[in-house]
Amino acid sequence: MNIGIDRINFYVPKYYVDMAKLAEARQVDPNKFLIGIGQTEMAVSPVNQDIVSMGANAAKDIITDEDKKNIGMVIVATESAIDNAKAAAVQIHHLLGIQPFARCFEMKEACYAATPAIQLAKDYLAQRPNEKVLVIASDTARYGINSGGEPTQGAGAVAMMISHEPSILKLNDDAVAYTEGVYDFWRPTGHKYPLVAGALSKDAYIKSFQESWNEYARRQGKSLSDFESLCFHVPFTKMGKKALDSIIDNADETTQERLKSGYEDAVYYNRYVGNIYTGSLYLSLISLLETRDLKGDQTIGLFSYGSGSVGEFFSATLVDGFDKHLDIEGHKSLLNNRTEVSVEEYESFFKRFDDLDFNHEIEQSNEDKDIYYLKDIQEDIREYHIPE
Ligand code: COA
Repeated sequence: MNIGIDRINFYVPKYYVDMAKLAEARQVDPNKFLIGIGQTEMAVSPVNQDIVSMGANAAKDIITDEDKKNIGMVIVATESAIDNAKAAAVQIHHLLGIQPFARCFEMKEACYAATPAIQLAKDYLAQRPNEKVLVIASDTARYGINSGGEPTQGAGAVAMMISHEPSILKLNDDAVAYTEGVYDFWRPTGHKYPLVAGALSKDAYIKSFQESWNEYARRQGKSLSDFESLCFHVPFTKMGKKALDSIIDNADETTQERLKSGYEDAVYYNRYVGNIYTGSLYLSLISLLETRDLKGDQTIGLFSYGSGSVGEFFSATLVDGFDKHLDIEGHKSLLNNRTEVSVEEYESFFKRFDDLDFNHEIEQSNEDKDIYYLKDIQEDIREYHIPE
């Protein structure tokens, strides 16, 4: 059956901080952030962009009026939920005006949840030829000012329309998931920021990748040369590279070169956004599709990872003419037209986001009128601006 990604889009907030300046402020050698971690800029969330508005902003440009009648399920994957009961998918369903007879819910397993959401969408659609599923990965990655994880923060959302006869990527029936109980990163309820064992999280990621990949290769009888490119979960661009390096020696030289240069294209956008948790793998996929010269029928391997931990390796095949369904110019302009904030301004945004210090005068700016944003919070009820 031919089911996969028919449309894909991302949204990131309009502010960023320069990583070299952050390093200077933290009295760290800038090369640690720029090269050691591999991040150049980091998206900074204003208080009026939460996971709901970012998710709606990512989805609005890939949904037609016809789609709104055919979407049977909306799934939001997140690990920075704004509510422990009401699903962000219900809020986004409302904001986008999707037909009411739809299943809407949130999924969680650290940075992994968008992947089971896609697989669930695929299984759901197998029985429903006329429906579509909207999958959104939306997160604000926050570790705290001056914390060890600070250089691996970020914010953003990716939206994907999963359908029959997709225009971009066909999802293959080959996914292998690997679960192992490990406390590498977790956020008990009530904690503002996650608890993280940094070094363990890097080792757990690599182990999960190797286990998923080896089992995948064994079951499918595949080797690295079968893939045009590989995409990884990217908490920071050095992380996926470490995983790739851990197995690359098993490939011939041509494959090694192709996969290494493909990796650089695949993390190009992530380098300027930072970690967006659940959406990071899919931002990397967009970066690959929009930066590299690819053709229909080529196979992309994807590795998804969520601390805790669950990893999954799966593949997708490019559809002829996929490039006509991407918004390369829109994405480049979204990234290039952002405003740089100083380290002090970033800290002030960060604290206001924490305290939900909501100031109507500051938050409601005219330049935001074409996007969704959080307009007000009254008695813990969030009200959003809906673009015309
Ligand atoms: N020039 C170039 N590289 C430098 C450097 C310099 N001046 N100083 C340090 N580095 C390198 C280190 O060698 C290291 O590279 P390596 O991992 O290839 O050895 C890298 O920069 C990071 O240094 P490290 O000492 O590990 O940094 P840290 O203790 O500050 O922790 C993280 C980094 C990513 C673990 C931390 O930011 C974190 O916990 N992030 C959140 C969790 C996370 O994202 N986990 C990933 C798996 S999900």
